[in-house]
Amino acid sequence: MLKATTILVVAFLFLDFLWYLWQFCRKYIMLQNSRPASYSKTTITELMIPAYANFGGKIHGGILLSLMDKVAYACASKHAGTYVVTVTVDGVNFLQPVEVGELVSLHASVNYVGRTSLVVGIKVISENVKTGQQKHTNTSYFTMVAKDDFGKPTEVPMLELESESDVRRFLEAIKRKQIRELYKEDFIQEKSNLEIEKSLHLLDNERAILKF
Ligand SMILES: CC(C)(COP(=O)(O)OP(=O)(O)OC[C@H]1O[C@@H](n2cnc3c(N)ncnc32)[C@H](O)[C@@H]1OP(=O)(O)O)[C@@H](O)C(=O)NCCC(=O)NCCS
Repeated sequence: MLKATTILVVAFLFLDFLWYLWQFCRKYIMLQNSRPASYSKTTITELMIPAYANFGGKIHGGILLSLMDKVAYACASKHAGTYVVTVTVDGVNFLQPVEVGELVSLHASVNYVGRTSLVVGIKVISENVKTGQQKHTNTSYFTMVAKDDFGKPTEVPMLELESESDVRRFLEAIKRKQIRELYKEDFIQEKSNLEIEKSLHLLDNERAILKF
């Protein structure tokens, strides 16, 4: 009886030891394939020259979008260590116009990583060099996917969250992803249920005129 109990205890301790060894190895392997958020933080600063302006004298939104895509690429590819592509963009609202002569700085960091995708958060600040006055023109989120040499999505390193802000950004990205998926499902449902005749009342308070 005593012998059986001893064997059971030893077996239990051995299994326990194996479990801890597995956890340790798993953590070690994961750390080998992870990068801190600070590793890929990127800033691009560009002078807004007259060639970037629209007819109203303000900077074209497309110029800023192109700069955001550039900084998102730099940041995501640094984290992934591969070539990346832009998949989707959230939250592009230009809150204030950018003037010719201002210095625009785009601050990018990896907010979230999935298996092959990354979300890069970009804060755009425009500065009047004479007065030093700064304005926050927008914050947007670019989802990028890492590609291998054959153009197939490839796994990215895990993200090491080094501060409370890193954790907050990661959690916010999860929420945005969930809301986007819900919105997508709801919209598909609404679209397939849309009956034009029954929905015409929605035009009552809109600035549209029926001409048929
Ligand atoms: C986006 C793309 C890589 C998806 O390829 P796929 O073979 O369908 O791959 P998967 O379904 O495995 O998706 C890969 C990742 O993209 C994510 N993804 C795909 N579509 C997405 C979307 N609309 N929004 C957010 N993420 C998306 C998936 O969630 C997955 O992420 P995960 O691995 O972290 O979970 C592919 O459609 C593509 O290459 N598109 C063109 C991108 C491009 O050229 N951009 C430049 C524009 S000119």
